[in-house]
Amino acid sequence: MTTTEVVADPEAMRTLGQRIGRMARAGDIIVLDGELGTGKTTLTQGIAQALGVTEAVTSPTFVIARIHPSTSVPLVHVDAYRLARRAELDDLDLPWEESVSVVEWGGDWFPEAALHVFIDYGNDDQRVVVLNGRDERWTDG
Ligand SMILES: Nc1ncnc2c1ncn2[C@@H]1O[C@H](COP(=O)(O)OP(=O)(O)O)[C@@H](O)[C@H]1O
Ligand SMILES: [Mg+2]
Repeated sequence: MTTTEVVADPEAMRTLGQRIGRMARAGDIIVLDGELGTGKTTLTQGIAQALGVTEAVTSPTFVIARIHPSTSVPLVHVDAYRLARRAELDDLDLPWEESVSVVEWGGDWFPEAALHVFIDYGNDDQRVVVLNGRDERWTDG
């Protein structure tokens, strides 16, 4: 399924992330694409809130990946921007199966992703968010 949403501000982006986080299950990979500054990390903060991550979620650009414990399943947060190929990520042995994983700049590297999110700039602070889910559950939230 594909849906498009207009997101007015950072708070609304976190709210959308919370909806996504509530629908996510262990083993899910969620890929986020869109130019720098469109709100991929902001969306991830909402996903983290829904999972019950209490520590701050910031951009993992320089560390590539972080594993955030939560009150439910852990959040794996990846920034693939600096990587040349997926094999570099696979080498990190991240706990994909036991976690909800969010990959910023995941592009086409994750054909198995449960949800693909594309974010584009709209007018002013608006963002246009296209959600492309592998199954119907992403429309339920
Ligand atoms: N509607 C919006 N949705 C998300 N972020 C927004 C929005 N409007 C303004 N912003 C700002 O844009 C920036 C997005 O940054 P970030 O989430 O780090 O983007 P990315 O991870 O895509 O580089 C933040 O400074 C945020 O406050
Ligand atoms: Mg980011």
